[in-house]
Amino acid sequence: MKKENFIYKRILRPAFFSLDPEKAHDTAIIFLRALNAVPFKKKLISFFFKETKKELEIAGIKFKNPLGLAAGFDKNAEVYPVLALMGFGFIETGTITFKAQPGSPKPRLFRYPENMALVNKMGFNNCGAEKAAQNFRKNGKISVPLGISVGKNSDCPIEKAPENYAAAFEILASYGDFFSINVSCPNIQNLSLLHAQHYLEKIFSAYRKAAGEKPVFLKIAPDLNDEELKNVISVCAKYKAGLIASNTLPAEKAGYPQKGGLSGRPLSMLALNCLSRIRAISKDIPLISSGGIFSASDLKLRFEAGADLAQIYTAMIYEGPFTAQNILSGLK
Ligand SMILES: Cc1cc2nc3c(=O)[nH]c(=O)nc-3n(C[C@H](O)[C@H](O)[C@H](O)COP(=O)(O)O)c2cc1C
Repeated sequence: MKKENFIYKRILRPAFFSLDPEKAHDTAIIFLRALNAVPFKKKLISFFFKETKKELEIAGIKFKNPLGLAAGFDKNAEVYPVLALMGFGFIETGTITFKAQPGSPKPRLFRYPENMALVNKMGFNNCGAEKAAQNFRKNGKISVPLGISVGKNSDCPIEKAPENYAAAFEILASYGDFFSINVSCPNIQNLSLLHAQHYLEKIFSAYRKAAGEKPVFLKIAPDLNDEELKNVISVCAKYKAGLIASNTLPAEKAGYPQKGGLSGRPLSMLALNCLSRIRAISKDIPLISSGGIFSASDLKLRFEAGADLAQIYTAMIYEGPFTAQNILSGLK
């Protein structure tokens, strides 16, 4: 085992895992915030992390390499400049909603280490679009593409969702290199109804009005049937949008007693299957795979199944900050 992985697994992870999972995440964010404030952070971080250059162009964006950090880690766009120095080819911030909201009551994040899984019912806790825009202005651009995930406020009725997304797009449009539209978080009541064509049409046209031709991806649930996938893909084609497949799975569907969205290893086969079914329907839709990627062989399988890019989140929690670098160095 490499020295840095040994330090994470034997010292840092046990320390983090002795804390409540959300507390551990907040502690990591505090540390990353402090690092973000260091003027020579690039030099400092590049001492430990090497840049992985495997450049590719997808949806008109030049990515440094095909492995990104998924949404949900830097919900308020506070620390993405530091994360961008940790080997990722792109970073997705958010999910951000128009108005700030506290999210679900705590506890709302649960670890299942024996399964390398997490269950979360965070409920889009975030600082809101105006504050996030301030953070984007303060933190500025980074050396890899920056994505912004946008979601719906929990107290906004589903029929008003397109206006709610539109209000967030208008505030955030100039800050991202690309956007993702989240209609698939299982912890927001009725959100998944927005996979329906008439809602997507309205949300995408609001996006195009606010952000012009800027690339956009729709983040979908992992268990859509083929008919639902066909519908979603036809709307995406009309609005020149890509897909992120996929979000977390309602944990009860996988037999977990805890309510929330399941991520990590148990999502792997489902995410791979979803990806293959999308590629059977459309050969050319820009496609980011997300769900249960832990190793270079997991990543290779996604590319073989037709993914253009991939993202990780849960692997970072179990394997540590060098995960992207480790996975990418195993890609030959
Ligand atoms: C604690 C937590 C919070 C998340 N929050 C968001 C979010 O705000 N928006 C989003 O699109 N996905 C969110 N996700 C889903 C991840 O972006 C990712 O799609 C999912 O976890 C599957 O990938 P993984 O198995 O590599 O974690 C979250 C996941 C976790 C574990």
